[in-house]
Amino acid sequence: MKVAIGMSIAATALMAGAVVAQGNPVGNAERAKGKVSICIGCHGIAGYKSVFPEVYHVPMIAGQNPGYIANALKAYRSGDRTHPSMRGIARGLSDEDIADVAAYYSGASK
Ligand code: HEC
Repeated sequence: MKVAIGMSIAATALMAGAVVAQGNPVGNAERAKGKVSICIGCHGIAGYKSVFPEVYHVPMIAGQNPGYIANALKAYRSGDRTHPSMRGIARGLSDEDIADVAAYYSGASK
């Protein structure tokens, strides 16, 4: 269900050509292309599990609702979410970066 909603929003976003993530900067999937190279190492591998410091799943973010992705990244950046690798990454992202990668991943399910 969550995936189906994400996909339909992604399809709408692709038609509109841009994604507005809840009053934040307008995300641009083209602009995100230089920014997601760091994410792909972890999020691009289906079923990837890290073995250090503990075994955990890396969630699939492709096709997610862009608002969900943006909110998750902001929560890591602010410390509301505490995962150490994602906190370190999110701290380096501006609001525009977050909007761009959210736009990219919401439409990157194909
Ligand atoms: C070192 C590996 C790694 C890298 C690099 C990485 N992530 Fe993550 N990411 C994770 C893990 C592991 C989680 C799950 C963390 C948790 O349990 O809170 C996660 C969670 C997330 C979530 C929340 C997903 C959900 O379903 O709640 C988002 C969104 C996200 N990452 C986006 C990104 C973006 C965008 C980038 C690049 C700017 C990135 N990540 C780079 C490992 C990584």
